[in-house]
Amino acid sequence: MSLYAIGDLHLHFGSELKAPGQLHDRIWKNHEEKFRINCSELLTDQDTLVLVGDHSWGKNLEQAEPDLEYICALPGRKILTRGNHDMFWDTKKTDALNRQYAGRLEFLQGNYYTYQDYALVGTKGYTFEGPFWVDRRGRIVDWDEEAMAHAQKLVQRELKRLRESFEAARRDGYRKFIMFLHYPPTSVLEKKSGFTQMAEEYGAEQVIYAHCHGEARFHDSIMGMFHGIQYSLVSGDYLKWHPYQILIPQ
Ligand SMILES: [Fe+2]
Ligand SMILES: [Fe+2]
Repeated sequence: MSLYAIGDLHLHFGSELKAPGQLHDRIWKNHEEKFRINCSELLTDQDTLVLVGDHSWGKNLEQAEPDLEYICALPGRKILTRGNHDMFWDTKKTDALNRQYAGRLEFLQGNYYTYQDYALVGTKGYTFEGPFWVDRRGRIVDWDEEAMAHAQKLVQRELKRLRESFEAARRDGYRKFIMFLHYPPTSVLEKKSGFTQMAEEYGAEQVIYAHCHGEARFHDSIMGMFHGIQYSLVSGDYLKWHPYQILIPQ
């Protein structure tokens, strides 16, 4: 019985493949099949897999359904958080998705789930991604202030949702937390953020995130220990489609 995570499956069984440049790298070739085999070799029905967003290219639930069925067919319990590309999942539809997939998938947004004595909390998150201006050496020298101000609003909205998730768990007596985001917790300009501060405030033991895929993005944010919290990037191509084990079974 163990806890695993991965993100950015970007499935497209029921829709057109988007972003062809990025997703045509070798690592994406037959990635659905590689991941399915890796899961069948690694996971049992007693394990829990948290999928941290960008599940599907589907523009709506109808197009995403075959992708969600693929996830349903993986071994173990599956918990999903939202990614920026998950058009099938409007925040207001979380309860409806939980009803529709009851007993098969669990959708984490504004609520929380549990694993042993841990509360699994999370939200999509957000982080400023430019536009940036770089010098000849590729160093960032300036950025779009208006876009940054807009990003800050989205960050505040996501922080509010994350706090709701922590508070719901705390009200029910949970004191041990693992925090899941789709976006990285910090932008390339930041050393810390509202997300790292909230993880520290509630004493989260780990922060798991994805979204950074393609080798150039793997080191955009915090990896490893920071202020006593373990930060892990779990985007699928970074993990080469092997689920990351969050907790070692005791
Ligand atoms: Fe992605
Ligand atoms: Fe993403």
